[in-house]
Amino acid sequence: MAEAIVIAVDGPSGVGKGELTKRLASALDYELLDSGAIYRVLGYAVRKAGLALFDEESVVQEAKLLNLSFECLDDGVHVLLNGEDVSSEIRTEEAGNNASKVAAYPSVRMALLQRQREFLKEPGLIADGRDMGTVVFPKANVKLFLDASAEVRANRRMLQLQQKGKEADYQKVLAEIKERDDRDRNRPVAPLKPADDALVIDTSDMTIEEVYKTACDYIFKKTGIRI
Ligand code: DC
Repeated sequence: MAEAIVIAVDGPSGVGKGELTKRLASALDYELLDSGAIYRVLGYAVRKAGLALFDEESVVQEAKLLNLSFECLDDGVHVLLNGEDVSSEIRTEEAGNNASKVAAYPSVRMALLQRQREFLKEPGLIADGRDMGTVVFPKANVKLFLDASAEVRANRRMLQLQQKGKEADYQKVLAEIKERDDRDRNRPVAPLKPADDALVIDTSDMTIEEVYKTACDYIFKKTGIRI
């Protein structure tokens, strides 16, 4: 029986991972793991239960009990917590920051490891996150690490917020990005960093099309699969 292929795509927020992984999953008809959504839902569940983000013991208990599911609808993948659609609640800046805080606990990461690995099914999986190629799927067939300067990512975020009709302050957005990067890169377990065998793509001056083409060429080189 053919083994399922894993394509790991890691990197900080705002580098274009979401767009790239959605396109790859759809083109290859592979399962998509949005691991950031799991940490976002956990942060949301902790707050909703009235627990403190700094209380590691409570957070890990929530992680073990987390009743999370993904639902594919016409407008994209929806995230459910206890059957309730929390997709928009978990996409705020605050939810991203809370996710980064709960994700820094080694015990929490351990509690969520198996759940992430269970996404792997034939014919393959596109795994989007921070530690897909280093910890969750260290034997991934293809490892990509997307990066871009904090300033470029802050500009992209401003544009996204404007398109949603939301007002935002550039300096505040930039400061939040840097703070989250700093926490994600410097935590003791599974820090944000490229795997030794990852292809690093700096997307700062690239269009989505160019990033997609670079990824497809590399996937072909590593697996022989042409997209
Ligand atoms: O990809 P995202 O912005 O939805 O992720 C939110 C936070 O979750 C991110 O700042 C760090 C954490 N995260 C993580 O630690 N490991 C992952 N594999 C994915 C996300």
